[in-house]
Amino acid sequence: SGNNTQFTIAFSQCIGDDAWRETMLDEMKRELSFYPDIEFIYRDAGGDNQKQIQQIKEVLEQDIDLLIVSPNEAEPLTPIVDSVFQKNIPVIVTDRKTSSGLYNAYVGADNLAIGKLAGQFMAHTLNGQGQIGIVTGLKGTSASIERKKGLLDALDSAGNVRLGVEIQSDWERHTAYEQSKQHIEQLLEQDIILAFNDQMAFGVIQALREAGENYKRVIGIDALPGEGNGLSEIVNGTLFASMLYPTGGTEAIRTAMAILQRKPYKRDNILGTVVINQDNAGLMMLQSNKIQEQQEDIDKRQELIVEQNKIYRNQQTTLNVLITSLVLA
Ligand code: FRU
Repeated sequence: SGNNTQFTIAFSQCIGDDAWRETMLDEMKRELSFYPDIEFIYRDAGGDNQKQIQQIKEVLEQDIDLLIVSPNEAEPLTPIVDSVFQKNIPVIVTDRKTSSGLYNAYVGADNLAIGKLAGQFMAHTLNGQGQIGIVTGLKGTSASIERKKGLLDALDSAGNVRLGVEIQSDWERHTAYEQSKQHIEQLLEQDIILAFNDQMAFGVIQALREAGENYKRVIGIDALPGEGNGLSEIVNGTLFASMLYPTGGTEAIRTAMAILQRKPYKRDNILGTVVINQDNAGLMMLQSNKIQEQQEDIDKRQELIVEQNKIYRNQQTTLNVLITSLVLA
């Protein structure tokens, strides 16, 4: 790193093995393909705070120019991310946050607003009367903390809608499934259930179905496109609704490039959200399929450009060899 043409960006991902975060990484790589001079270092902490801290220390030794980080849990990751920022290495925080606010830019949706939106949507669905159950994400993650706060805010002004049961979970489908089996009686008493992401919602739905309940309204968050993900499960009627939670991979790289190229950028890059349910899921699906097609088109063009460059470079070498032999002759 160091000079103007070549930068190194490190991306520290809290947990890579999940569809939503794979989509985030795909978006990043696609955007990065427009900048062939950028070196990209990717580290997946597998949901382990200590591992993520260690990985950030390691990438720091590789003389990076910018860090993108999605911190697993806020408190444990704050000191190391702060120390990067204090070394004057730009930091972009994405999706989840640390607890200090020491970063150059945040890219992601507003989780407080998402919790609020989910609460208002449920209150509306229940006509202002009923009990809701919630299944939260991993305790120390800012996304879970903020979603819960937003939800409680909404319920404060939602008449007779109250929190019936709260299951403290960890974002994972299988955990939510096991916990739902343990609390099945309480869950069955709820009028509606909000899981803090779609994967956990699928775990809840599976446990409910095994208990003979096929009609309970279960809501998630993410509404990720793609086979078997939230959006398609709304279209097929499995999931009642979900709050769109864009991954922001593209915006993270765009912000990184703006910072590195010393162009203006925003500190808070808040991605929009919306309730997805039976009314608009079909339309969303059509649109996301269309975008997917266009992306594949762009990918093809990019590959062609790379091919053309190779051919051009080969011709250059051939030409040079020819000139050299002519000069020598
Ligand atoms: C993916 C995920 C998403 C959720 C986000 C919260 O790892 O669990 O489903 O919206 O992280 O940080």
